[in-house]
Amino acid sequence: MPPTLSTKGESSRATPVGGPVCLLEHPLLGHHLAALRAETTGPAEFRRLVRRVSTLILCEATRDLQTEAADVQTPLARMKARRVCEHVRLVPILRAGLGMVDAALDLMPEAEVWHLGLYRDEQTAEPVKYYEKVPPVLPVDVALVLDPMLATGGSATAALATLREWGARRVKLLAIIASQEGVDRVAAEFPDVELYVGDIDPELNASKFIVPGLGDAGDRMFGTLA
Ligand code: PRP
Repeated sequence: MPPTLSTKGESSRATPVGGPVCLLEHPLLGHHLAALRAETTGPAEFRRLVRRVSTLILCEATRDLQTEAADVQTPLARMKARRVCEHVRLVPILRAGLGMVDAALDLMPEAEVWHLGLYRDEQTAEPVKYYEKVPPVLPVDVALVLDPMLATGGSATAALATLREWGARRVKLLAIIASQEGVDRVAAEFPDVELYVGDIDPELNASKFIVPGLGDAGDRMFGTLA
């Protein structure tokens, strides 16, 4: 049974259209997001912060993973514990989604990673697919799409359409910063996809960058700012 997701935060900023959207609220998330957004944060610290923030978002996004009983012998006694019994696939959208992978693999070391290369054309802001690496094991149980930024929603919806072609049944999209426009687009086009976001910003500028946002996550992460 799918989880009941709540929409949190100020009501004026969190009125999604359609599918389940979870806007996380946590003091530590807000604290690390503030540092992540700051223009003075360099690539090394930016990567550390993306990983930290991703861990917090992942904890919420994986709350409904199924578990099974497992016998465990502690140094003191035998006990019934619980272990996750679902296989999770991680789908980072290159490049910036790579920054969220280590956090996910720390929590789910057995998860497979399916890379999906998409970049946004600078003139049109439309996504261009340039890489996909999918093993011939379909369909999947739970797929977590990882991308720090959800701006127009073009890249995310292209990724979700690809996942649908792959036969993924339960799909969750995890973003660190989203625009309200991007959230609304994903929710309208993919109402069955659960969306987990660290924050929702109000607008996009003329170049389709999230404002206030944090700039270009891929460039900041990999030190390729012009
Ligand atoms: C950024 C970001 C998303 C996309 C968001 O990637 O990481 O993938 O843009 O924009 P959208 O919602 O309007 O599609 P970018 O194209 O800059 O590629 P990069 O990660 O390689 O830098």
